[in-house]
Amino acid sequence: MGAVLETRALSRRFGGLAAVSGVNLTVARGEVRSIIGPNGAGKTTLFNLITGALPPTAGRVIFQARDVTGLRPADLFRLGIVRSFQVSHVFPRLSAWQNIELMVYGRVRSSSSPFGRARTTAAEARARVARALARLGIAERAREPAGTLSHGDRRLLEIAMAIAAEPVLLLLDEPTAGMSPEETRATATLLRGLAPEITLVIVEHDMSVVMSISDRISVLHRGELLAEGPPAEIRRNRAVQEVYLGGSAAVPDPRC
Ligand SMILES: Nc1ncnc2c1ncn2[C@@H]1O[C@H](COP(=O)(O)OP(=O)(O)OP(=O)(O)O)[C@@H](O)[C@H]1O
Ligand SMILES: [Mg+2]
Repeated sequence: MGAVLETRALSRRFGGLAAVSGVNLTVARGEVRSIIGPNGAGKTTLFNLITGALPPTAGRVIFQARDVTGLRPADLFRLGIVRSFQVSHVFPRLSAWQNIELMVYGRVRSSSSPFGRARTTAAEARARVARALARLGIAERAREPAGTLSHGDRRLLEIAMAIAAEPVLLLLDEPTAGMSPEETRATATLLRGLAPEITLVIVEHDMSVVMSISDRISVLHRGELLAEGPPAEIRRNRAVQEVYLGGSAAVPDPRC
């Protein structure tokens, strides 16, 4: 089981600002990793570097033992790095099913590339769509136009579309944003269930989600990795408590 993802001294400057600075991450296969940190800590920039949306100013990105630094998002997508917002161009008049189907065929087309998969038959494609819908718990929504789905179901559809691309590594930036507490809890359970088949890296502000689904948490602060460890350790970490709450209280415990 090697690492699926490694970043080595990964850095990105914007003029004089070090948005991401010397970040070393190692994400194991099948892991659920959360990246947390205050606003402006560099979380989204880190995602942009990993997915090729931005070139780093220094450092490397290693994916499945291969140096992928500088590859474009489309190439990384074909290799199996999928980011939810890259695929969240939901067509509102197409059904949930049809939207997912587009993702399946998008990935099928890539089978001509050296990294692509064997050609998918129509029956296999249907099975993949059905599986993605079922895994996200929205099978009953399959025939509904995506534009008529509730906000929560639409977010789930976006994740189902990402899953249908059969990612090795799935990056989700605030997957539960705008969801009701009930939808948030259900989504957390669903996300947890995607691993270990899919390795997940999640940026999430909802601490109860982070604490309940993560194997490990990496804390960014001013572009640097401040702490890393399993949820219980991060909750107790003094430095983390300081940046989050001015040291006045512990990182919230979802069991309370
Ligand atoms: N394209 C850009 N040009 C200039 N500065 C940028 C750019 N993108 C991000 N920054 C800056 O880099 C720093 C990190 O931003 P980033 O969006 O990565 O933070 P974040 O951790 O995702 O924050 P949030 O929790 O608010 O989403 C911030 O100071 C931000 O203003
Ligand atoms: Mg962000």
